[in-house]
Amino acid sequence: MARRNLGIILNGATGGICSTQHLANVLGPIRAEGGLKIGNDVIVPKLLLLGRNEARLEEVARANGVDDWSTDLDAALGDEEYQIFFDAAATHLRLDLLKRALAAGKHIYTEKPVAPSVADGLALLKEAEASGLKHGAVEDKIYAPGYLKMASLVDDGFFGRIGGFRLEFGWWVFDGIEAPSQRPSWNYQKSGGGGLLSDMYPHWRYVLERMLGPIKHVVAATTTTLADRADEAGNAYTADVEDSAAVIVETEAGAIGTVVSSWTTRVRGEDLVRFQIDGTGGSAVAGMRRCYRQSANDTPLIKGFNLGTEDDAMTYHVDHTAAWHEVPAGAPYKNPYRYGWEQFLSHVVVDTPMVSDLRAGIRDVQMAEACQTSVITGAWVSMAPVT
Ligand SMILES: NC(=O)c1ccc[n+]([C@@H]2O[C@H](COP(=O)([O-])OP(=O)(O)OC[C@H]3O[C@@H](n4cnc5c(N)ncnc54)[C@H](O)[C@@H]3O)[C@@H](O)[C@H]2O)c1
Repeated sequence: MARRNLGIILNGATGGICSTQHLANVLGPIRAEGGLKIGNDVIVPKLLLLGRNEARLEEVARANGVDDWSTDLDAALGDEEYQIFFDAAATHLRLDLLKRALAAGKHIYTEKPVAPSVADGLALLKEAEASGLKHGAVEDKIYAPGYLKMASLVDDGFFGRIGGFRLEFGWWVFDGIEAPSQRPSWNYQKSGGGGLLSDMYPHWRYVLERMLGPIKHVVAATTTTLADRADEAGNAYTADVEDSAAVIVETEAGAIGTVVSSWTTRVRGEDLVRFQIDGTGGSAVAGMRRCYRQSANDTPLIKGFNLGTEDDAMTYHVDHTAAWHEVPAGAPYKNPYRYGWEQFLSHVVVDTPMVSDLRAGIRDVQMAEACQTSVITGAWVSMAPVT
């Protein structure tokens, strides 16, 4: 078994998602383990951290035991030691960067959204396919333990005929005035590629279709709850994109449900996301970590709102969580982003199939775009596959 390096450029390396999930939680540990066995070889990621701020790059590199960093994009793209270009920089820069990486002969792996529009994504796909280079898109949420447990119920046929579902997600993102904001300011500006629909609905596309099959159409409404915000430097700006969205979804199989997301909601419950599926065979509720199920046999006979006498009404309590059972853990779980990296590295090295390729990433963009169109027209928008 040979051990060999595989060069990977990490663009946007100092950013929130790249420095934590991709670098510190996935590629760093793979390097610390001595590499990843792929085919007959052990592949060791050789990393080049790319970004704008030399001092910050050095800091992140040193913290993660990486020797190479640079602010010179052209030099990085011209360096043949690096075969893969990974982009996790700000969204609005992505399309151009990925095209340049392909033109430089690099395989591309990218954070979501893969492109600003479906049309842009398809043009990028055309270039990728013509080049013969490999492509992949990050679709991490499906590998959260709670969703893996729910997917196992789907695969076991637990739900029977699925009629409905609802996914609720969010927390309060401070405005930068009252308290420091937990998210970058570009998230709240159109010019920076921000907006809740393009940020979160690409994720909900692959989560929903993994569990429920193809989406038929969507209808959406959005609002901006907190328009007055301050950026990282304390400068006031006006958020010109939505921070709350409610979307109704119908699947090709006839299930209907809602996907409600908000950066201006307060959490009460076990998790930041709650996804419920209801079928004739049973229901399940998943968060990122846990999943609970109630089978048809366990379903209690609820007779309606029985508030009893006036005194009873305040005290009488039925525990509706009682008839639910936690779905046990399956095989040991990995960091959700690691599943994608392992698949992509294997795809590059030994040509194994890549489920989350650019085509999948474009369908994720299609979901966000369909919601955006619906907000403007007020109508249902088709999710028929684009070619
Ligand atoms: N898969 C997920 O769950 C997930 C979660 C968060 C973010 N993301 C995606 O990852 C990307 C980065 O998000 P983040 O939250 O880490 O953002 P961030 O603002 O923390 O990081 C963005 C990076 O881009 C760089 N950058 C910003 N503007 C630039 C410019 N004009 N020129 C060159 N570089 C610039 C910054 O220096 C930084 O390194 C986004 O596309 C976002 O959609 C995905």
